[in-house]
Parts: sequence; structure tokens; C-alpha cells
Amino acid sequence: MDFDLVIRDGNAVTATEEVFCDIGIKGGTIAAIGKKLPKGEREIDAEGNYVFPGGIDSHTHIEQLSSSGIMCADDFYTGTVSAAHGGTTTILSFAAQHKGDSLRDVVSDYHMKAKEKAVIDYGFHLIISDPSESVLQDELPELIRNGYTSFKVYMTYDALRLDDYQMLDVFHLARREGALTMIHAENHDIIRWVTKRLLDLGARAPKFHAVSHPRLAEGEATSRAISLAEFLDTPCLIVHVSAEDGMEAIQRAQRRGLKVFAETCPQYLFLTAEDLDQPDMAGAMCCCSPPPRDVASQEAIWRGLANGTFQVFSSDHAPYRFDETGKLSQGEEAPFNKIANGVPGLEVRMPLLFSEGVLKKRIDLHQFVDLTSTRAAKLYGMFPRKGSISVGADADLVIWDGQKEVTIAWENLHDNVGYTPYEGRKVTGWPLTVLSRGRVVVDAGELQAEKGSGLFIPREKPSSAEPLGRGSHEAGLMARYGFGEAW
Ligand code: URP
Ligand code: ZN
Ligand code: ZN
Repeated sequence: MDFDLVIRDGNAVTATEEVFCDIGIKGGTIAAIGKKLPKGEREIDAEGNYVFPGGIDSHTHIEQLSSSGIMCADDFYTGTVSAAHGGTTTILSFAAQHKGDSLRDVVSDYHMKAKEKAVIDYGFHLIISDPSESVLQDELPELIRNGYTSFKVYMTYDALRLDDYQMLDVFHLARREGALTMIHAENHDIIRWVTKRLLDLGARAPKFHAVSHPRLAEGEATSRAISLAEFLDTPCLIVHVSAEDGMEAIQRAQRRGLKVFAETCPQYLFLTAEDLDQPDMAGAMCCCSPPPRDVASQEAIWRGLANGTFQVFSSDHAPYRFDETGKLSQGEEAPFNKIANGVPGLEVRMPLLFSEGVLKKRIDLHQFVDLTSTRAAKLYGMFPRKGSISVGADADLVIWDGQKEVTIAWENLHDNVGYTPYEGRKVTGWPLTVLSRGRVVVDAGELQAEKGSGLFIPREKPSSAEPLGRGSHEAGLMARYGFGEAW
């Protein structure tokens, strides 16, 4: 066979295997894997380097208008360029519904934003903040069939939160239509109550953000979300878990055999509440929800990555500049509860986990690949097209120099945020060459991809979203009384 490209003599690592081989690429997909493949039109020598499936960052906020009207700093060009430089070849970003919006309109709006700009492939999760009758009955089922097979709901934030009744409505729909529900789990009233008391005491600085979002509020909401999902026998995925409280609820559910999946992010491994305690407003740069906790929580999260509690490691890249367009949109004196929530991280996500996880032997290479790529592809309905090195898969690959030492500095990153919370941190391991569908998108730190060359990836209904078939006692009663279908 004539190959367009052969990646020669790399150490190919997947979630389950490690093989020294050549990879032959034709027409954007992997056409052969083996030793001494025939010469390709183009050749890349990967000897001495790893070849991983391209990273999948399954939690990013790109060109998204926040519920308080602040636009993210990264659009689909800067966001995807930055992702590609860090070894990520697919992002899942949010198409965010604000109350009263038609979900169909929201989705077409995000398509318009992404189509002309993305340099790597992308898909959308939906954010559902208004599960009205028409959204649930009419719009969502069609969108799910068209490849938007996951959505996020919030248990906090005034403008986004669903109450338990609405969560049940969404879970019911998710089970019926085969979609996966992602949950931002924090107890809204605990946060509201603590915030009010802090502000009454005159405690306004960014560091109080960490006080106002207690670990227990995360743990309680996580347990509640899992109970609601279990009641309706639908799987769920708890996003951006920050500490043991949430983790324990997840582990309890997983031990009981429930399909409860979990995600964590770099900010919970590499930042603590101390990072919010900086002079003036600088701590605002590290304000995100849930907030970074303490060293014990970081260790707990590392254990969760190693023992399989977490399936995905995403960035939750929520890019806001440290100026009046972003973090300081409510002024330089704004109290902590008026600071835009979120931290950037999509370019450094894989290097941070490789360096501190693999090289420090907290996780192995296969876990690294699974957490940064393969499992997201499986959970969100893109496998094996994405997240694998196998014949027929998209040739989304990253040739990774496992020895390259880099000191993280925002001026060398490619996002539009203006800072990184990881400034000055030294990491070992960085992408050399990044391929998306066989196209070299980044080579030796240089962008090679054309604006708009990324593709929308419609996603399958994932098996992760299939119910267990373990209905509640009440579901059994309803079936006995002849109302099984409606339940
Ligand atoms: O603080 C965060 N995580 N901001 C981004 C929005 C979200 O809740 O994921
Ligand atoms: Zn969230
Ligand atoms: Zn997020």
C-alpha cells in the first residue's frame, strides 16, 4: 500500500499496549501498524519517542458566554491552537443554553463560531439550564440523535442551577434517549449561606472564594446527584471533582456497581486554596468552582487517578483574562463572588499529568493515555474513531518527547488568557509533533494547520449511558401496575 505518511520506529502506547512499530497513514486514517512498513510519501522519525493517541480534552469552555454575560477569552481558533500545542487533537466544548434560549439555536450558534476557526476536531456537550417542556420533548431528543449525546447540568450558580425536580426530568430524558448527564455538583444553599456571612463580615478578597465553596457542599451535592440518577437508573458523570468528600460518594456508588463516572482536572492536583491568597486581586486568577483545596486533597485526587475512581482528566479550561473583560469585569474591588469562575489549562493538561503522574510513578503510561484520551472517547461516544491507535481510526497522534524539559511560561503558550496559574512550574515531557487526521498540525512548536480545518465530530450514543436495568423498588411497582413504559 502507498502511505501518505509513515511514522517510523515510535514507541506506540495505548491504554492497554506498548509496541515499537511503524504507523502507516492514508487518507487521514491509520492504514497499517507494523514493523518495516513500506516507504510513505512523507516520513516522520519517531525513534526514541512515544506515540500516543491524540489527547481528548472533554471539558473546555471556548467562546462561551458565561451566565453573567462574560465572554471567554479563547475563541475556537486560539483555543484549538493552544490545545494542539499541548498534544490535544479533539476538544469537547460546551454549547451553553441560557434561560429562555432554544437549544437548537444555541447549537447552531456554536457551530458558526467553531466552523471557520477550529484547527482540530471538536464536539459539543450541551449545557441545559432551562429544561422546559419543549426542550425536553422536542429539542433534546433530536439533538441527541444528531450527535450531541451528553449534556451538563449545574446544581449551583443562580442563572444555571436546576433543582432536584428538574434534575429528575433531565435524568429521565437521558435514560430514555441514551445520553450521558454530566453534573456540576455543589450545594447551592450552603454556598449562598456562607457567601452572605462572609460578605456581612467584610470578607471580600478572592481567598474567601475557597471558604464559600466548602468541600462538604461538593460532597453533599455529589451524593444527592448520584441518588437522583440511581433512582431513575441512568448513568452520570461528576465533573471537576476537587476533594475527598465528592470522591468518597463516587467510590461508594462505584463499589455498589453503579455507572457513576468521574472527572478531575489539573487545578486540583497543582493548586491549593493558598493560590487564591495573593496580594491585591491576583488570587482571582485561581478562582474556579469547586475551588482548589489543600495538599491532603491533592493527594486524595492522585489516589483517585491511580485507583480508577476517575476515568477522565480534563482541563475545564475556562479562560478569563485578568482584566475588565474577564476576571475583573465587576471592577478591581469586586468581592470574591463577583469574580468570573474558571482557570485556563488545556495546553498544559497532558504535560502536567505526564510529568507529575507518569514520571513520578503515580500512574503508568497506559493510565495516562486512558485518562487523557481513550476513556473520554469511550464515555462520550467517539471510540474507536478517536482515542485509539488502531487500523481504521482517525490518525490523531502525538509524538511525545518524554525527556524534554520545559518551564511553563504563559508567553510560550498559545491561549489568549494572558496568564497561566502554572507559571514557572517545571515539567518533563512535551509534544514534538501533533497529527490530526493525518495532518501535521503542530511540529516542533510551530503551528502547521489552517484555520477552520478542524471538523465537527457527531458522537454516538455511548454504551456508558445505557441503564443498568436495575430499577428502583418503585419502578418495579409501576411495572407491576402496568405503567412500566411511562416510568
Ligand atoms: O470554575 C469553573 N469550573 N468554571 C467553569 C464553569 C464550570 O462550572 O465548569
Ligand atoms: Zn462546572
Ligand atoms: Zn467547566
